Amino acid sequence: MTSHVAFDVADCVPAGEGLSIDHIRRSLVTRRIGSQVYLFGEVSSTNVVLRRLAETGAADGTVVLAEAQTMGRGRLGKPWYSPAGLNLYASVLLRPAIAPAAVPVFAFISSLAVTDAVRAEGVPARIKWPNDVLVGERKVAGTLVTYAVAGEIVEYVILGIGVNLNVDRSALRPALGPAAAAATSLREAIGRRIDRNGFTVAFLECLERWDDQYRSRGPEPLMSAWRERDALTGRAVEIREDGASYAAEALGVNDDGRLVVEDARGVRHQVLTGEVVLRG
Ligand code: BTN
Repeated sequence: MTSHVAFDVADCVPAGEGLSIDHIRRSLVTRRIGSQVYLFGEVSSTNVVLRRLAETGAADGTVVLAEAQTMGRGRLGKPWYSPAGLNLYASVLLRPAIAPAAVPVFAFISSLAVTDAVRAEGVPARIKWPNDVLVGERKVAGTLVTYAVAGEIVEYVILGIGVNLNVDRSALRPALGPAAAAATSLREAIGRRIDRNGFTVAFLECLERWDDQYRSRGPEPLMSAWRERDALTGRAVEIREDGASYAAEALGVNDDGRLVVEDARGVRHQVLTGEVVLRG
């Protein structure tokens, strides 16, 4: 069954520029992802809303979208700047039959789908481990993977996706501070306004393709596709993890999804949760 529900879409979005459930429903060609779509005006976080829906039995593929978030969150608990009517803030519920150790693959699935949708706008995009999408050297999107377990089995996975589509660089500076130097939006990169409904549809369709491929063929094909989009291999980086930082060279991503780096003494490290800063 397909149902699409709209609540409280923000008045602050100019007519014709808002996300539209009808537009998304008419255009979306998927079987699972987007079988239920909820669109809100302003929420604390689409992830929080979707978690509540997941706990009350929402179906695999349920999507929550919002025009704005007041408490959007990214990796490592950082705030995610979420102004109204400009960008994409989406959360997608998946119910894969996997063990908790397999969950990191969803960082790769979601970043592949975002880069596909960005590339469909005509811009080359690459991925900075684990799931930052870059245009040139600047971040346009990030994805956050959270999950719940029941015993040894994953009950659900929530992919939270934020894409800077139409936000102005001038707004990023006051909102992000020094981090704005490493961020941009697709509109800034391409020089034209991005159709948010079209981008949302493209993203959800790409996500279903990658997730289907994972369910049918396992992680290898998608990991090799991901490695072709890897922005870090061979680059000088700084790793910040557990309150410490060190300079290193990125060597690539291993089959467990960890970033392998070599520090200045030639010691190899496998990074699981740290932050990576590009240095050269
Ligand atoms: C990151 O790069 O750190 C990940 C950012 C993820 C942000 C998205 S916006 C939609 C969803 N709701 C949230 O609170 N976070 C994710």
